Amino acid sequence: MATYLVTGGAGFIGSHLVDEIVRRGGNVRVLDDFSTGRADNLAHHGERVEIVRGDIRDLRTVMGAVDGVDYVLHQAAIPSVSRSVEDPLTSNSANVDGTLNLLWAAKHHKVKRFVYAASSSAYGETPELPKVETMREGPISPYGVTKFVGELYCKSFALCYGLHTVALRYFNVFGPRQVFDSPYTGVIAIFANLLLDGKRPKIFGDGEHTRDFNFIANTVQANLRACEAEVPPGSMYNIAGGKRISLNELVEILRELTGSDLEPIYAPERAGDIKHSLADITRAKNELGYKPSVDVREGLARTVEWYKGLRVRA
Ligand code: UD1
Repeated sequence: MATYLVTGGAGFIGSHLVDEIVRRGGNVRVLDDFSTGRADNLAHHGERVEIVRGDIRDLRTVMGAVDGVDYVLHQAAIPSVSRSVEDPLTSNSANVDGTLNLLWAAKHHKVKRFVYAASSSAYGETPELPKVETMREGPISPYGVTKFVGELYCKSFALCYGLHTVALRYFNVFGPRQVFDSPYTGVIAIFANLLLDGKRPKIFGDGEHTRDFNFIANTVQANLRACEAEVPPGSMYNIAGGKRISLNELVEILRELTGSDLEPIYAPERAGDIKHSLADITRAKNELGYKPSVDVREGLARTVEWYKGLRVRA
């Protein structure tokens, strides 16, 4: 059975990847510094999953973690746009230096495939929608820059060293286990929990910003397909639902699902925010066989149920 290293494996996306690999009978090692990841997310696996506690900025740690694995699924990062605007240096060191360490170790240990969690923020504020992989990039936030640099490194390692890399440009991923008690987390986690707590969500801007929200199960599926599909080294794919909704529409659906009638508060737009985001997912469908299996509404319903469950368990 193949062995997978999931960096950031105690986090939201990483821990769902771990679950699916274990479900399929694979071996998993997790590398996580537990800065935002939680042991709880992996506790149900007991000894089945090997955990390496460490920082991806430390090359020795990374070299050890990659030793003996077939696939690297690199999810560890500081994922917030607004946090990168406040502190670009820390985002850069984790997202760029950390990724370079992993690529270097993957090349050294001759891993079969290196799958990188890239970001739709690489497209930046170009007006054309939907975003297609052939478009010119133009990230506007420091975060978008760091994630795009990671992608460029993936491509460069494919070209210079023959490392088989695949970059997946995630569009706004959401679902159970997404942290909700941090200002830097995703908007769905924030809004769902405010409404469940009887508080009003705060929309930055007029609420007409749109996002292509994608449920976690779809992202997991894309990663495992990226390990198996016969695609050229250095490939890159949009991973999304292929539909967009506005923040106003999002609040409306969440109000329905939480049974709340609270109105949102409107506040000034945030620096570094892009206005609209929508993916063309044709390439991922054709080349990876990716097919989003859970749509936004169903995903939101499952997510709200999960956050409700947290309150029951507390
Ligand atoms: C998100 C991801 C990023 C990913 C990118 C891909 C998070 C934290 N960030 O960035 O890692 O690479 O998608 O497309 O998951 N908003 C509010 N009120 C709030 C919080 C947010 O109105 O309380 C707005 C933001 O201003 C923005 C939208 O909601 O317009 C989405 O914000 P956010 O969830 O932080 O995601 P992105 O910035 O799109």
